[in-house]
Amino acid sequence: MSDVDAIVTSAIEEFGRIADADELERVKARFLGKSGSLTALLKALGKLAPDERRDAGARINAAKDRIEAALGERRDALAAAALDARLAEEALDVTLPGRGAGLGGIHPVIRTWQRIESIFHSIGFDIADGPEIETDWYNFTALNNPLNHPARSMQDTFYVEGSDQGGLPLLLRTHTSPMQVRYACQHRPPIKVIAPGRTYRVDSDATHSPMFHQVEGLWIDENVSFADLKGVYTDFLRKFFETDELQVRFRPSYFPFTEPSAEIDMMFASGPQKGRWLEISGAGQVHPSVVRNFGLDPERYIGFAFGSGLERLSMLRYGIDDLRLFFDGDLRFLQQFR
Ligand code: PHE
Repeated sequence: MSDVDAIVTSAIEEFGRIADADELERVKARFLGKSGSLTALLKALGKLAPDERRDAGARINAAKDRIEAALGERRDALAAAALDARLAEEALDVTLPGRGAGLGGIHPVIRTWQRIESIFHSIGFDIADGPEIETDWYNFTALNNPLNHPARSMQDTFYVEGSDQGGLPLLLRTHTSPMQVRYACQHRPPIKVIAPGRTYRVDSDATHSPMFHQVEGLWIDENVSFADLKGVYTDFLRKFFETDELQVRFRPSYFPFTEPSAEIDMMFASGPQKGRWLEISGAGQVHPSVVRNFGLDPERYIGFAFGSGLERLSMLRYGIDDLRLFFDGDLRFLQQFR
């Protein structure tokens, strides 16, 4: 039965040469499988004499144990090698320097917002903030713009689900003017406030975005005149654009909540944008009916309001010609304002 030792030796040798786990199982079958060489010896036992059979059986079983032990060792070695290879491949170098999150910057429209706040704050205006989802009352009716009034068509409105106490649909505010009413109902004159914020209209092209920003201004007291509006607003523009080289004109217009009403246009007297009138704001003397809705006596209190577009002011300040750039999120554009 020297075959037995030869089989063990060749099995151990062959296992040692194999570097692949599947291949190892195939080779194992050649020794221990149904028609493997050791199995063949086992089958032949029946032909031996009983005393020889016991001895041979013991030797074959011992050989089988040795082959299985060698097989197990080789399996473990191959698995360990495979794991090592995978770890090496997926290695993470924790000592590498980080990539960095990049430096953020203030959006140009928000820069404008902050500039406006600091300019008006410096001349005694309070700064107020209010809801973007408004009721029909604050956005329209309290501003002398009742249901079915044709001036409502000046502002294409987004309505949202839900309604106010009167059953009228809620809407995204189409301007910051509702803040005039909200603020004036909560404060006593003199009322001197700006309210910057987001506004919404169903409008989208190179100069209109469905979401945009306005700043509302309101000054109410016993003797605030249109001349004060001209003075305050012209002074604001000079500070905002950091130049006295600009002209301002008040062009007659119409808003339900002001009378008289005006569009404020400006023109740079120097620089690359000079010589063109540009509309930047609606304005006017607050309508007596609106003053009454503030809870004030219009015989006693008078003043002005304005509503200016922050995108428009930003475009002029930075020389930007397409409003959509503000909202595309293109870093090449935004990084210029870091
Ligand atoms: N709310 C007006 C608009 O969005 C602008 C405006 C504000 C006009 C205040 C007059 C007074 O067009």
